[in-house]
Amino acid sequence: MADARARGLGRAVIFLGPPGAGKGTQAKQIAKHYGVPHLSTGDMFRELVARDTPLGKRAKPIMDRGDLVPDDIVLEMVAERVSRPDTARGFVLDGFPRTLPQAEKLDEILQARSWGQPLVVHFVVDPGQLVRRLTGRRICSVGGEIYNIYDQPPKVEGRCDNDGGPLIHRADDREEVIVERLAAYQEQTRPLVDYYRSQGVLVDVDGMQPPTTVTAKVLEILERGQETHSSPPESSAAANQVSQRYER
Ligand code: AP5
Repeated sequence: MADARARGLGRAVIFLGPPGAGKGTQAKQIAKHYGVPHLSTGDMFRELVARDTPLGKRAKPIMDRGDLVPDDIVLEMVAERVSRPDTARGFVLDGFPRTLPQAEKLDEILQARSWGQPLVVHFVVDPGQLVRRLTGRRICSVGGEIYNIYDQPPKVEGRCDNDGGPLIHRADDREEVIVERLAAYQEQTRPLVDYYRSQGVLVDVDGMQPPTTVTAKVLEILERGQETHSSPPESSAAANQVSQRYER
């Protein structure tokens, strides 16, 4: 691990997948392993909302509905964030890009900085699991540790194992909002799987495995470098189920 921290990631790594796929859970581990920033656009927006900034005020009702924040707002925020010096050894993007214009803009940013192509890790999870994962999610309000009351509960109910901080239930983790978020993913973000797969930079990971197994798989992929998988595990049944269940 010391070796990995010394090397960093040396590239932009994108974690792609539907809400509840485990992007945040994995991004925390991977960013820590390589000593690089974990850039979550969702966390950035939640911070702006908590600070009640003008941008936060604009984003809040959109997030509360389960829709996507407009591209121009997201892109300005991300362009500024990835220009900071701490991204020099690579970074993990969690929740960005989420639309084709965002992906194209990211390509431009990476090119302008002479980065190579990003590596995209696509988490594949049975659609039926996503609602359970999201309704059961609790997050430490101090350190951001992620729990699940059904599958990864804290030792003491409502308290973080690490720092004892109170656990919160995200406002958009209510079932009626989750349905909208899954529909937004299907309509606007799912096409990125094909976008990146056609560039040969996307690797599918079975997100149904236990979190530590998923982390080990992602580390293996990152250590091996770029790899392509031509037969997506979600190509048939799972992808179709998501479309049918969450299309508006
Ligand atoms: P964001 O915060 O990015 O939410 P999301 O993409 O919907 O993803 P989640 O954070 O819900 O899920 P996750 O995949 O990180 O899962 P997690 O690891 O927590 O975005 C929120 C909102 O902000 C958006 O709706 C939008 O409005 C706005 N926004 C953000 N970025 C934007 C952008 N680029 N453009 C426009 N708008 C944007 O895990 C979930 C649960 O599952 C946890 O309880 C966890 O313990 C459990 N779990 C994780 N892994 C496993 C496993 N392997 N097995 C069993 N359980 C697991």
